[in-house]
Amino acid sequence: MTVLEVIQRSAAFLAKKGVDAPRLQVELLLAGVLQVPRLKLYLDFERKLTGSELESVRELVKRRGNRVPLQHLLGSACFCGLEIKVNGHVLVPRPETELLAEHARQFLSTLNAPPSTALDFGTGSGCIAIVLSVRCPSTRMHAVDISPEAINVACENAALHGVAGRIQFHLGDGFAALPQGLSFDLIVANPPYIPSAEIDTLAPEVRDYDPRPALDGGADGLDFFRRLASEGARHLRPAGRVMLEFGDGQAEQIDEILVRHKWVVEKVEADYSGRPRVLVARPKRV
Ligand SMILES: C[S@@+](CC[C@H](N)C(=O)[O-])C[C@H]1O[C@@H](n2cnc3c(N)ncnc32)[C@H](O)[C@@H]1O
Repeated sequence: MTVLEVIQRSAAFLAKKGVDAPRLQVELLLAGVLQVPRLKLYLDFERKLTGSELESVRELVKRRGNRVPLQHLLGSACFCGLEIKVNGHVLVPRPETELLAEHARQFLSTLNAPPSTALDFGTGSGCIAIVLSVRCPSTRMHAVDISPEAINVACENAALHGVAGRIQFHLGDGFAALPQGLSFDLIVANPPYIPSAEIDTLAPEVRDYDPRPALDGGADGLDFFRRLASEGARHLRPAGRVMLEFGDGQAEQIDEILVRHKWVVEKVEADYSGRPRVLVARPKRV
């Protein structure tokens, strides 16, 4: 079978299974198997696959048809231009989180008294901490997660990008996992924010493969925002900020929570489709 035939047949199979962008998915899987850039496939449509190449791609397409996420099959995701290894223990980094990381980077680069310190709260694969550490080398980065498996993946990713020595990883439950006396210029978080009852309604790739503690934000999805609002201020330096990603439609409630806990919401940023998804806040000065 040729490259073009594999693409066409597999894309039709994935479309029937309800997979989004089926042709792109097949091309990425096939490019992975043949170890070529995806666009190279277009120059080689008539190339015949060997028996073992065909077997590998069939197996991957079958698993993708069973809604295993593409990134799990490839073993990595691209985040802000960096390759981040992923597995079933960490959330697959999302494009909307790149917006959070970019705002965090911009904020850290405006601080004029290095070294600055930042905390990635709920680091998962480590994607945010690693991008910030790569792009803002003078920042002392800390990252916390409650999942030991996630911390392992994050450490592996940090080593892959040469920043293992610049990020301190802490295992445990939120701020309680940090050594006493640490304070930050920036706390950045993409916390779990899906209301518990909604998790079963999500796409199978998310519902069945992202770890539940990475998704579940409690009954209304806002548990972590309440925690960050009540505990965050005492971990910030005087001019410190928190930057938070949140779900579509949660902006108003989170604003209320923060204001109730004496925060000033300075900015709410929209994603590329115009939906508010990131906010910047600081404790009210008395
Ligand atoms: C939505 S994921 C974000 C992962 C990564 N920062 C990203 O943006 O792709 C949230 C992360 O918070 C972690 N988490 C959940 N509860 C936590 C807690 N109580 N303390 C620390 N981390 C927690 C989860 O294990 C998960 O890795």
